[in-house]
Amino acid sequence: MDRRDFLRKGTVFAAAALMGPGAALAGGGSVVALPRPDTGGGKPLMTCLAQRRSSHVLGREELGLPALGALLWAAWGVNRDDGKRVVPTAMNKQQAMVFAVRSDGVWEYLPREHAMKKVLEGDRRRSFDGAGLVLLYAAPEKDRYAAMHVGSMYQNAGLYCASAGLDNCVKYQKHDALDAELPLPDGWATFVTQSVAPRSAR
Ligand SMILES: Cc1cc2nc3c(=O)[nH]c(=O)nc-3n(C[C@H](O)[C@H](O)[C@H](O)COP(=O)(O)O)c2cc1C
Repeated sequence: MDRRDFLRKGTVFAAAALMGPGAALAGGGSVVALPRPDTGGGKPLMTCLAQRRSSHVLGREELGLPALGALLWAAWGVNRDDGKRVVPTAMNKQQAMVFAVRSDGVWEYLPREHAMKKVLEGDRRRSFDGAGLVLLYAAPEKDRYAAMHVGSMYQNAGLYCASAGLDNCVKYQKHDALDAELPLPDGWATFVTQSVAPRSAR
């Protein structure tokens, strides 16, 4: 992270922390600080591996902020003081973005701040499968490692879903439906999506 990036992100973090959920930032969308994940909790890893699966019928119910924060952290959070992530990246370049498509808009996850910033208004879940939450995983299209990084991210998220009793399904269908509107750097694209919802009663 260069100094300018640090200062920009630092400002967002300070604003999110000071102003609380839904705070409006000058020159940008609102920023919501996410609850820190309970890194001492959850089911044992071997149980999560045994229970990891796709659900092809997903509910429309949304996740609460604690579950959303834990899910985003599992997918792409910072897990060490040196800024490294829960997933490994080639040469630690960390070139990926995660967006959360919710009823109240589309939000970019800010890993260093563990916050999310609104980047699109409106309920865009119908652009995908209409599930309670849709995660979008974006990366540079020509990065030979990008799909590997995205795979690590959705697997971590899938394991968190197994731990937390959430339904999920990775999907390629309509994965790039919002790419023309998202604030993606040049040459970046959404590789795949992951729909998530509280487990429906079956
Ligand atoms: C990269 C990728 C793309 C996928 N795309 C879709 C999809 O577009 N639609 C769908 O219903 N499932 C999709 N799936 C889910 C697979 O169908 C599912 O993982 C597979 O049937 C194995 O089931 P399991 O995840 O329960 O082990 C995708 C999975 C991956 C890893």
